[in-house]
Amino acid sequence: MRPHRTIANKAKIPFGRALSHALVSLIALAAASAAPAIAAEASIPKFVAKDGRHALLVDGAPFLMLGLQVNNSSNYPSQLPKVWPAAKAMHVNTLEVPIAWEQIEPVEGRFDFSFVDVLLRQARDNDVKLVLLWFGTWKNNGPSYAPEWVKLDNNRFPRVITAKGETRNSLSPHFPATLEADKKAFVQLMRHLKAADPDHTVILIQPENETGAYSAVRDYSPTAQKLFAGPVPAQLVKAMGKTPGTWSQVFGKDADEYFYAWSIGRYVNEIAAAGKRELPLPMYVNAALRDPFKYQDPYTYSSGGPTWNVLEVWKAAAPSIDAIAPDIYMRESDNVRKTLEQYDRPDNPLFVPEIGSDKGYARHVYDVLGRHGIGFSPFGLDQTGYSNYPLGAKTVDAQALENFAVHYRLLAPMAREWARLAYEGNVWGAGEADDRKAETLKLGDRWTATLSYGEWQFGSIDQPWMGKAEKQPGREVPDGGALIAQLSPNEFLITGYRARVSFGSVKGERFLMARVEEGHFEDGQWVFDRLWNGDQTDYGLNLTTTPQVLKVKLATY
Ligand code: DGJ
Repeated sequence: MRPHRTIANKAKIPFGRALSHALVSLIALAAASAAPAIAAEASIPKFVAKDGRHALLVDGAPFLMLGLQVNNSSNYPSQLPKVWPAAKAMHVNTLEVPIAWEQIEPVEGRFDFSFVDVLLRQARDNDVKLVLLWFGTWKNNGPSYAPEWVKLDNNRFPRVITAKGETRNSLSPHFPATLEADKKAFVQLMRHLKAADPDHTVILIQPENETGAYSAVRDYSPTAQKLFAGPVPAQLVKAMGKTPGTWSQVFGKDADEYFYAWSIGRYVNEIAAAGKRELPLPMYVNAALRDPFKYQDPYTYSSGGPTWNVLEVWKAAAPSIDAIAPDIYMRESDNVRKTLEQYDRPDNPLFVPEIGSDKGYARHVYDVLGRHGIGFSPFGLDQTGYSNYPLGAKTVDAQALENFAVHYRLLAPMAREWARLAYEGNVWGAGEADDRKAETLKLGDRWTATLSYGEWQFGSIDQPWMGKAEKQPGREVPDGGALIAQLSPNEFLITGYRARVSFGSVKGERFLMARVEEGHFEDGQWVFDRLWNGDQTDYGLNLTTTPQVLKVKLATY
């Protein structure tokens, strides 16, 4: 459980100003408590953690990434005009873009950063931050984005050999020549960024992409076999609470996968650490997932990558990696939620750098932010004419963008405030589950909030006030969700989309909503618009397709 925090002592504050006061106090508190750490490196983005909660500081304050990842081959100046209109239509504040090894070092030792420069310039013009994805040794297990001088030279840069002696199109992490070549290019990229991006338009770096190997649990080359027969490094033995021995002795049936996770983790860590020595930007790795509930044969997923079962191994292997992030292409809400639970850890900021682009995925922004997540980013929603259906949307058209824009439009004006609230205190949230049923969230030990879907604003769909109510239209795909942040013990900030929020008392106290204020955020300030009362509150707080933000005060009588 996350600790409860009292945000403001409201006893002496007239309620008319109490909510705003609470928020201002919260901001002041955040500024005061974070000040010394932030002041030292005001401008360079970094992760911070407190009481098990995380924030990505950008310009010295928590930042919520409302992202979009472009398609794999959209990393050329010719494609950017097809990217920015999509970013604008979706109201993103962060764009994730690959930088390919083959692009910056097509000839060994000769570097070309022209795309990086164009991208930086255009991102600034479009007022969007960047996350750069280094497509180097691994791009979904293979070296497809490595330059030809790498991927065609099997002797110098050996590939994975399976237990049966077959060669896989995945580079082995056990060969220093490969590591050195990748590291050299990555270091050049970071050095270039240091010079070309003094204002930190780039806020985060992803070294490699979905590491691991498909159809091979690990490399069985003679070099790998020798390492595998040796002792488990002391660092890992200690981190896992084991007694020393060989890989098989220490890890038994998991030895092959753990060995591979450790080997890749160390490799990526060395690249990240070398890059950070040039420019200490925060860095994360992304995971191609395995089944979050059931055992799965490592042969059938990207073995050695940071799947949930080897997170401890990766954490021990890669201290220079600040976050391990799940790429979500599972459509079932139970699977999505389980995955978020697995990657939301006191030692790991929750970030979803890829999620499917289809409408059904969009509601999960509420699940991610409700778990104090620092960012969310659907994959492949640019206008370069590519769709990764059946993983994502069949057609990437205006409607596909709008399916995410409805949520980003709501969150963008309050992104900084939300990030601060999520870092400083309690937040909750959920997207509509596949069963479409109402869900009750426990807001600490006094209050609950029930989120329900498919309601009209007046009355209840099951027991209409008069006559029979039609079903809400447009609900073929679950798309609702809500977020709640605690402002003080009995005060909450609420927003969401196509959801009804109804409060309850844990102990059965007689209570009411003493004040429900609708407002919006402008330049970080809360602007009061009106009070909700009567029909607007009698049947719960109905969040519709219109962006709505409410501050609610609960009281007993
Ligand atoms: C996950 C990868 O990380 C992305 O680069 C992309 O290949 C998607 N899968 C599929 O579109």
